Amino acid sequence: MRNRVAVLHGVNLSALERRPAQHYGGLTFTALEHRIARFARELQLETIFFHTNHEGEFVEELHKSPDFADGLLLNPGAWTHYSWAIRDALEVAGKPAVEVHISDVESRDDWRAISVFDGLVAAKISGKGIEGYREGLQVLARELGV
Ligand code: DQA
Repeated sequence: MRNRVAVLHGVNLSALERRPAQHYGGLTFTALEHRIARFARELQLETIFFHTNHEGEFVEELHKSPDFADGLLLNPGAWTHYSWAIRDALEVAGKPAVEVHISDVESRDDWRAISVFDGLVAAKISGKGIEGYREGLQVLARELGV
């Protein structure tokens, strides 16, 4: 069955509980990953988690991802707004992908409204907190025929 989803978290997500609560809800990173794993189980999806604060490591994980994942759920943090290298690596991965942001990137700073993944992802979900990950997994489940 094609049901393996790699959940890829990028820069500063590991410090989630220390970031502005009005945008990130005071959630801990560990709690976030537990909730995502639970959402995935409910949808009969398997999850593989990855986090790094290093851009090159994120690129390398994307390169390797076709070996162990059928779909990608990614929140690359601020890289979303400027890392063309990560966009290119997502293209190399060649798997259905959904971009998720906990905060509402459209209503914050102007630069956050820009995404390098435009046209490459099946969906961009933002401003729905932890629920955005559930929605992203639902999109991937549909894409993968699960
Ligand atoms: C984020 C939004 C980005 O603008 C920001 O740089 C992050 C987190 C989010 O989940 O809301 O680090 O991707």
